[in-house]
Amino acid sequence: MLVAQAQRWVVLKFGGTSVSRRNRWDTIGRLALKRMSEEDARVLVVVSAMSGVTNELQAICDGNDIDGRVAALVERHRAFCAELELDPDTVLGERLAALQELAREPRSRGRPLSWQAEILAQGELLSSTLGAAYLCSQGLDFGWCDARQWLEAVELPNQSAWAGRLSVNCKREIDPDFAAGFAVQPARMLLSQGFIARHADGGTAVFGRGGSDTSAACFGALLGAQRVEIWTDVPGMFSANPREVPDARLLARLDYAEAQEIATTGAKVLHPRSIGPCRRAGVPMTILDTGRPDLPGTRIDATVAAVPGVKAISRRNGVVLVSMESIGMWQQVGFLADIFELFKRHGLSVDLIGSSETNVTISLDPSENLVTSNVLEALATDLAEVCRVKVIAPCAAITLVGRGMRSLLHRLSDVWATFGRERVHLISQSSNDLNLTFVIDEVDADGLLPLLHAELIRSGAMPVLDTAVFGPSWREIEHGKPQRRVPWWSAARPALLERACAGTPRYVYDLDTVRDRARALAETAAVDRCFYAIKANPHPAILRTLTIEGFGLECVSLGELEHVFATLPELSPQRVLFTPSFAPRREYEAAFALGVTVTLDNVEALHRWPELFRGRTIWLRLDLGRGDGHHEKVRTGGIAAKFGLPLAKFDEFLDRAHQLDIRISGLHAHLGSGIEDPRHWREVYANLAGLADEAGNVESIDIGGGLPVPYTPDAQDFDLAAWRDGLDEIKAAYPRYALVIEPGRYLVAEAGVLLLSVTQVVEKDGVHRVGCDAGMNALLRPAMYDAWHGIHNLSRWDDSDARAFEVVGPICETGDVLGHSRLLPSATAEDDVMLVADTGAYGMTMANTYNLRALPAEDIIE
Ligand code: LLP
Repeated sequence: MLVAQAQRWVVLKFGGTSVSRRNRWDTIGRLALKRMSEEDARVLVVVSAMSGVTNELQAICDGNDIDGRVAALVERHRAFCAELELDPDTVLGERLAALQELAREPRSRGRPLSWQAEILAQGELLSSTLGAAYLCSQGLDFGWCDARQWLEAVELPNQSAWAGRLSVNCKREIDPDFAAGFAVQPARMLLSQGFIARHADGGTAVFGRGGSDTSAACFGALLGAQRVEIWTDVPGMFSANPREVPDARLLARLDYAEAQEIATTGAKVLHPRSIGPCRRAGVPMTILDTGRPDLPGTRIDATVAAVPGVKAISRRNGVVLVSMESIGMWQQVGFLADIFELFKRHGLSVDLIGSSETNVTISLDPSENLVTSNVLEALATDLAEVCRVKVIAPCAAITLVGRGMRSLLHRLSDVWATFGRERVHLISQSSNDLNLTFVIDEVDADGLLPLLHAELIRSGAMPVLDTAVFGPSWREIEHGKPQRRVPWWSAARPALLERACAGTPRYVYDLDTVRDRARALAETAAVDRCFYAIKANPHPAILRTLTIEGFGLECVSLGELEHVFATLPELSPQRVLFTPSFAPRREYEAAFALGVTVTLDNVEALHRWPELFRGRTIWLRLDLGRGDGHHEKVRTGGIAAKFGLPLAKFDEFLDRAHQLDIRISGLHAHLGSGIEDPRHWREVYANLAGLADEAGNVESIDIGGGLPVPYTPDAQDFDLAAWRDGLDEIKAAYPRYALVIEPGRYLVAEAGVLLLSVTQVVEKDGVHRVGCDAGMNALLRPAMYDAWHGIHNLSRWDDSDARAFEVVGPICETGDVLGHSRLLPSATAEDDVMLVADTGAYGMTMANTYNLRALPAEDIIE
């Protein structure tokens, strides 16, 4: 019994930053002790060299200023000894002498690989020796062991001499006697080195960069450990690189194959080679954050239930594509064999492959020998003998990783669309159905990952609601949960349930919320005039509320104009702006007759209808050549958009206006809807102000609407302060124009909810669906833009037993889905009242009577 207990091991690995400071060593000691006492396990701690040391040793291997570098390393380690209150001579005397000796010996001139491996090993030998002495000085029962005595390097077929010494693999077979032999060491806790192993010739070999993870994994596998813990400076593996995608989610649980794929395709947290040994031995791995040891991290093991879906998206830069065009005949036998033979000869391993009848394109990962040698040139020369070669570099490989990629293709249409704007050189789907990779030019990859990540979540391809797999976002871990306003309706449930009794589907609007948003915008000092874009929601009570708050109204059709004056007969036409698109001539005539401000966005109208515009004062809507917004379909600038006068026609417009004695008193640009970047509007103002002088009499600059609202649970409230700061700054630079805005969504979206009744709950092929009495007929946004709206069961508010449902409507279209994979009470049943949140903008206005279903009712809450 005692023996069995003595052989339970937990392996902990710490990287360079964790061994370079005294307080971190205290953490190491504390964690090791905790594992030993709480789990009654023996502990093996595997450490890297102090940060930066391996780089210095590498420079020594390269023969750069050997003496100077050795002296600096000696000094640095002695100083750290002193910081740890240890005597440098007693603790490190011998080791430092060994380093100095190595640097002087005759091999330092030829610098053979065996010598380089020994040099590189010194970093870990020093850090582990220091650490063991320190932990013992703190009263912990720590022993030290030389990893080279225990870990054996193996040679792989076709391996270069360089890789066979400086990037070795660890012996794969598990030796049943290993654990017993290792356990003989008396101390309960042991400290050893990462990165180094014993070469077949008895000398030293190293695992290559990131090799300490491999060491820990090999020890864990050979010891049949309870667990291998990889301690790093990030909380675990994420669904994307958090530095590039702050909304990336912590991956709480992965299986070995997925973790392997993620580590291989991008994440630097765990070395890809380290997973194999643990996987074969069935040893779980955990990635944890030394700075935040209480976070749960990422656990990798075999017990996780397979959850289909994209788990991560990654980007690798520095990928090289080699495109090879056969110069022989179609279906030339042996072509592939010939070219792959050459890759083998140059020691290059091929990653992705795409092939056609006459062309084969392959990718090479950025590997150390690609950078450090001219192997590529040599390869190209050899290849030129058998085919036409083109090397395309630098490229970026963007990879989606997850189980069941093939079954997800239908969810990926917007992901394809996001790529559609870049030139894709190669698409490759792995045969294990775990990854899908796109290779594009490196420059095109900038800024793409956040878009793709958001798209994957929105389409449901990345199932972030599954909390067994997806943890909090990086942003949330760093800054806490997003500070969001509590929605008005959460306190109004009884009133809403009562309204639902009068019949559903029914939109309900809260006027206090409209007032609140209106005041927040009106408070902005730089803004001189606000128009409300009534297309978002023309409900009379909303128009009244906003005009009382001082807003003018922006209309896009004669119908909207007539509605405005029917609702508010007293309203001065000066408070109304008409911004039509491809409207018939008579609507312009009617607008001029009403006395409202008319915006024109093309020069053709001046040529065709000169008398209509002669002598008038108008505003000119421009297309600044770019669009933005939450979806392609709502971007109203740039080549694909029908709106606005292109800048190329600006002079022609001015000439024609001049001939017709037209006065342009305002410049206008509305480039899209749901724009997240608060800097957008200041740039629009700057662009228009830069053009205003030329137009002569411009008094107003209208920078459009487009302000976003946070629809998804992890979206932040729009950064109104940053928006205001930008406007203040730019207004100060061009103070002589009146700054005009014309938002719609921001004022009303969060003020509205759509109430529906459940009609049927159905299970089909394992998919559970909640059907409602309206769908895309009442709320078109999910079907049209894949828009996300929160969906809640008001009748079972406190019911915590939830499951994922598709929420669908009664329309005869497969696209009639209000929400994918929504967590709702499992007991959801016929006649429950469902609330669809944030539907005050572009909800009722886009509703239709498709399938001859009646339009929703509307109610106001004062
Ligand atoms: N000004 C003009 C000229 C516009 O065309 C629009 C909206 C706005 C202002 C107001 O934009 P907002 O502040 O609401 O973003 N149906 C889509 C939105 C289409 C917006 C059309 N134009 C949706 O549901 O997302």
